Amino acid sequence: MEPSAIAAEHAARLTALDPLLPPPPPLADVGVRLTAESGEAVAWFQETAPGMASRTWEPARRHNLEVRLAGEDRAATLGDLLDQWAARIMNAVTPGDLDAAAVVELPSRDTAAVSALVHRGFVPVSVVAVRKAGRVGPSGSDVRIRRAEPSDLDVATALNMTVVHYDAPFGKVTPREDTEEGLRNQLSFLLGQDEPAVWLAERDGRVVGIVHIQLPPVSNWTGRYVAAPSPAYLACLGVAEDERGGGVGAALAAHAHGVIDAAGLPVTLLHHALANPRSTPFWYSLGYRPLWTMWLRRPVVR
Ligand SMILES: CC(C)(COP(=O)(O)OP(=O)(O)OC[C@H]1O[C@@H](n2cnc3c(N)ncnc32)[C@H](O)[C@@H]1OP(=O)(O)O)[C@@H](O)C(=O)NCCC(=O)NCCS
Repeated sequence: MEPSAIAAEHAARLTALDPLLPPPPPLADVGVRLTAESGEAVAWFQETAPGMASRTWEPARRHNLEVRLAGEDRAATLGDLLDQWAARIMNAVTPGDLDAAAVVELPSRDTAAVSALVHRGFVPVSVVAVRKAGRVGPSGSDVRIRRAEPSDLDVATALNMTVVHYDAPFGKVTPREDTEEGLRNQLSFLLGQDEPAVWLAERDGRVVGIVHIQLPPVSNWTGRYVAAPSPAYLACLGVAEDERGGGVGAALAAHAHGVIDAAGLPVTLLHHALANPRSTPFWYSLGYRPLWTMWLRRPVVR
């Protein structure tokens, strides 16, 4: 098939599958172009230098593949592209390098080809989930929700770190030596801003939870994931270990969603680890659903 016909069929399928997916852009002119009978892909490598904040949220070395699929047997087409890609990157990776991953991000509802990933040892690790404005979840317990102040920096940082450590075993988030310092610097900046973005839950004077949201223009980076103008982004929600399961998270999320809905923003996005037994059911009971699924093989070679 001609690349333009593959791209057109791919785009039409995604539009029919999920109205919240943006039109797929042309494959970027980076890295290496791979072609199959009814598919096309671009493969590129990305290394995040020590000290960069994004290193906490990603493996340090990412081998990425972006695909466009057409035809009836899309699992076979994706398998062909994955095998071509593997042949290219195998010699470039160190076996057992746990900080290197092969990464394929697919629209969550485009499921027909995913067996090709399963059969090659990829795991669905992380999801970008979306909530439409107005979706109402449980209101949560009657904790006090208040804006975080600069004097809350220590407890806000500590709660944010508990989220990083809880998420780390699931394969994408990677605590680094400087993660705490990076989060502290980010929170220090946020707590000094005029516009509130971080709120705390307090029970009997003790801080027991945190939520941090991004509104446009800060959240504009999420625009590539969704066919909706001005998405909001829920950057962090964490509850003290001994308070989980008692409605604190629901109360913080209800507050954050109230702020986002009042601002007239049509959707909220967030990332969560798919295997996280607390966050996954929690977000879906609050009206989120999967939009993009990130499949990882980490290490690339054992
Ligand atoms: C995920 C997380 C933020 C959810 O917060 P939480 O306070 O534990 O969640 P809630 O208590 O509000 O909701 C969970 C349960 O409490 C129940 N609940 C809700 N309101 C309640 C109330 N008023 N009283 C009692 N229980 C309540 C919910 O129905 C739900 O029940 P279930 O466990 O039977 O499904 C929290 O567990 C956490 O910090 N986990 C570790 C870090 C993490 O995963 N962060 C998210 C990263 S994306």
